[in-house]
Amino acid sequence: MKKTLRELFESSKNYSFKWEKYFDVYDNYFRKYQGKKITFVEIGVFNGGSLSIWKEYFGPQSRIIGIDINPECKKFENDEFEIIIGNQSDPIFWDKFFNKVGKVDIILDDGGHTNLDQVITTTKCVEKINDSGLLIIEDTHTSYLNHYNSKNRYSFINFSKKIIDDVNYKFPFDDHKKKIFSLNDYIYSIHFYESIVIFEIDRTKTKENKLLNNDGVFHNIKDLSFQANQINIKRLKSLMQNTPFGKMNRLIKKFADFANNKKIKKFFD
Ligand SMILES: C[S@@+](CC[C@H](N)C(=O)[O-])C[C@H]1O[C@@H](n2cnc3c(N)ncnc32)[C@H](O)[C@@H]1O
Repeated sequence: MKKTLRELFESSKNYSFKWEKYFDVYDNYFRKYQGKKITFVEIGVFNGGSLSIWKEYFGPQSRIIGIDINPECKKFENDEFEIIIGNQSDPIFWDKFFNKVGKVDIILDDGGHTNLDQVITTTKCVEKINDSGLLIIEDTHTSYLNHYNSKNRYSFINFSKKIIDDVNYKFPFDDHKKKIFSLNDYIYSIHFYESIVIFEIDRTKTKENKLLNNDGVFHNIKDLSFQANQINIKRLKSLMQNTPFGKMNRLIKKFADFANNKKIKKFFD
């Protein structure tokens, strides 16, 4: 029987360390690539322990590449995996890397874990990942640790929250503007786990969304959306009898927004 990722980790010849909860998450996302001809990149080689795990997990057809800033790590290179020395927070490193290696399928970032490392890696790598591929940023709890110069507006977790907006800004009927820096032609979905953020890349699935109507019978049912959220409109209208219609509607909307926000504000603390 095939070994699980956890079992492979426990029996690895070289030292490695990973948080316990990561194994289930990785197994869930990586299983479909087992035995396939994929290129898998891990940033952070350290003692070389994880690279042999990945080779055994993905199988002989996989191309496994480790990246580390420490030139000493080159000594772990062998027939099963390549090791490339470089700094993940240097955009020029990534240009050279992809020129040499070409597009890849999965990138797992277990490198320096600073905001700079994680944000530059994401912005440089997403476009170079094949459709159906993944970018996984590990140890994102560092966004909350001063030790990693984080806990600030430019933390990686804050950057990921911006990418949530970016993905939603694809919605076609609204007046939002595309973010100045956008990856929403590449990122199809984002998944958050404790200490892990996963970006699923798929250009074919990020095309403009279309509203579809079927040929079913229309029963003339009134759409009562928003009714449940309304404030006492009759009372408000009587108070504003002499206000022009357009202005009155805008004011009613403002009051309703204010009252509704008050009800949910506590869930944002
Ligand atoms: C947590 S260890 C990697 C552990 C390994 N993935 C494992 O599971 O056994 C982090 C590694 O990232 C490397 N690293 C730190 N900052 C880096 C950077 N800016 N670019 C590339 N590698 C970096 C370190 O030299 C170190 O070897």
